[in-house]
Amino acid sequence: MSSSENKKRKIAIIGGGLAGLSSAMKIAEMSLEKKDIIVQLFSIVPVKRSHSVCAQGGINAANKTTGDSTYQHFDDTVYGGDFLANQGPIKKMCDSAPDIIDLFDRMGVPFNRTAEGRIDRRRFGGTLHPRTAYAGATTGQQLLYALDEQVRRYEAEGLVEKYEGWEYLSATFDTNGACCGIIAQNLVTMEIQAFPVDALIIATGGPGSVYGRSTNSVSNNGLAAASLYKQGAKYANGEFIQVHPTAIGGDDKLRLMSESARGEGGRVWVYGDASKTWIDTEGIERPCGETGKPWYFLEEKYPAYGNLVPRDIATREIFKIVYELKLGVNGQPFVFLDVSHISREKGREFLDRKLKGILEIYEKFKGVDPHEVPMEIFPAVHYSMGGLWVDDKTHMTNLTGVFAAGEADYQYHGANRLGANSLLSCVFTGLHVAGPEAVKFARSREKAAWELPTEIFEADVKKEKDFINKLMNLSGTENPRLIHAELGNIMTENVTIVRNNEALRKTDEKIQELQKRFWNITVPDKGNWANQSIRYAHQLYYMLHLARVIVLGALQRNESRGAHYKPDFPNTNIDFLKTTIATYNKDNDSPIISYEEIDTSLIPPRARDYTKKTVSAAGAISN
Ligand code: FUM
Repeated sequence: MSSSENKKRKIAIIGGGLAGLSSAMKIAEMSLEKKDIIVQLFSIVPVKRSHSVCAQGGINAANKTTGDSTYQHFDDTVYGGDFLANQGPIKKMCDSAPDIIDLFDRMGVPFNRTAEGRIDRRRFGGTLHPRTAYAGATTGQQLLYALDEQVRRYEAEGLVEKYEGWEYLSATFDTNGACCGIIAQNLVTMEIQAFPVDALIIATGGPGSVYGRSTNSVSNNGLAAASLYKQGAKYANGEFIQVHPTAIGGDDKLRLMSESARGEGGRVWVYGDASKTWIDTEGIERPCGETGKPWYFLEEKYPAYGNLVPRDIATREIFKIVYELKLGVNGQPFVFLDVSHISREKGREFLDRKLKGILEIYEKFKGVDPHEVPMEIFPAVHYSMGGLWVDDKTHMTNLTGVFAAGEADYQYHGANRLGANSLLSCVFTGLHVAGPEAVKFARSREKAAWELPTEIFEADVKKEKDFINKLMNLSGTENPRLIHAELGNIMTENVTIVRNNEALRKTDEKIQELQKRFWNITVPDKGNWANQSIRYAHQLYYMLHLARVIVLGALQRNESRGAHYKPDFPNTNIDFLKTTIATYNKDNDSPIISYEEIDTSLIPPRARDYTKKTVSAAGAISN
């Protein structure tokens, strides 16, 4: 690279999924004329393998032709999130959504079409409107590939440099406390290097690996967010972890059977047992279906939304079916997700067109054809509504010059995320907030990062090298993989659907025990080439920190709200209509939990009830 290029302003983006690529595209576009900024895009995996490809079912945007409105989308999002989200940013996101769909359409995303050639929409959870644009059931992949092409074009023009196969380790700060660089490691040569930058965007997705197996890709380990938290970043709403109701198991990870299956008419059921009962919202005791016949429990309990209640509700109902009522399929922790009737009524080809992607996955991993027989599914950890705290207008974290976008930040979803709002929030935050704001910030800096004394960066490279050497030299009796398995198991057992304070306390104690045992591990590979053992150990170190943020946030929140459900505190509590903030306390190596007010100025909080059609703040009945 020429020395004049070295002297341009640089913005590092960590993560090459939808949030990272849309930030990169926007920044390059803003730099097209002056050519004054270069994006440096870091990703553990080739960007086309980023986890966004796993968001299968679609992307939300109000479609006026069906009577929907961006205001109704806004209301469904706020209501679905149980009011735990700042409303200004959500409104902007929902208002921008139709243009985002148009943009992807122009980029050539092969959205499914209606017979008239319009972009087709289907229903997703938490709304009564067909609002979700989709490309079979591989929507995330199609959107990602479209952005990848745009970013490659800018790469060819010298506005983007890609560092695939590099892992972010930490940020460097100048004497004013503003971010001026990152330290990253090449995963093949294991070289640790400083990159002076004028702004940093974290777009690394969520921390699913803290739970061991989840629907997340294994690269979603939360290291970048946890490392920044240890450097002083606030982590918000960590305890709000979404469990997706319909997934299948696997030894390596769990696989999503997209909500789009229900959006296309898929039905969730188990065999009924009239000797067992449930209580409806009027307090009337009702039988659990007819013995030996399919009982479509979501349809019966939630007549307005049926199989498309939000994920927190569907997941809790499936838990009740399996663990309280003991009605799981063949006594196992499964319920049926059935699309075979659609195949029979409308043909295999129809189903393939609508759900291309997931049906093959089911057949491949389960060995049976879901066109013919119902799928056996169970809930799985899927998404973190929490993440790095960001300012609601700029997406800057509390660390000057460090921005966050996509699942890595905490805005938009509150206590529970509506399906198909994830792809939207990733693209919206990269394209309309973090990308442009990072450009503004980088341009406004008095001194560019390349002008700073190299000692600042060298000191941080040394710090990271020393830490990694310390880990390399550990030669105790513990196996990091087993510590991770213990962490995943206890988090899954105690910090997913049902949360009890006693179990949360025990979980926190257990994590602290694992943190101690961590220093007695052995890193088996001592080599300096593609050393996966050291990366794994390093990621585990940070996962343990993040796990405590999640658990202590949950322990202190004595209410139930969205994905956070405590039987001892079954209702929402106005005192907790607040954002949880975790900050790292160096003195005791633990999180300090505090709370921050939420902007509820546009839609007054109301109790969620999906047994009935809801009245939105605008007064319209959402149907
Ligand atoms: O079920 C799904 O297709 C998942 C989509 C999402 O999490 O937004």
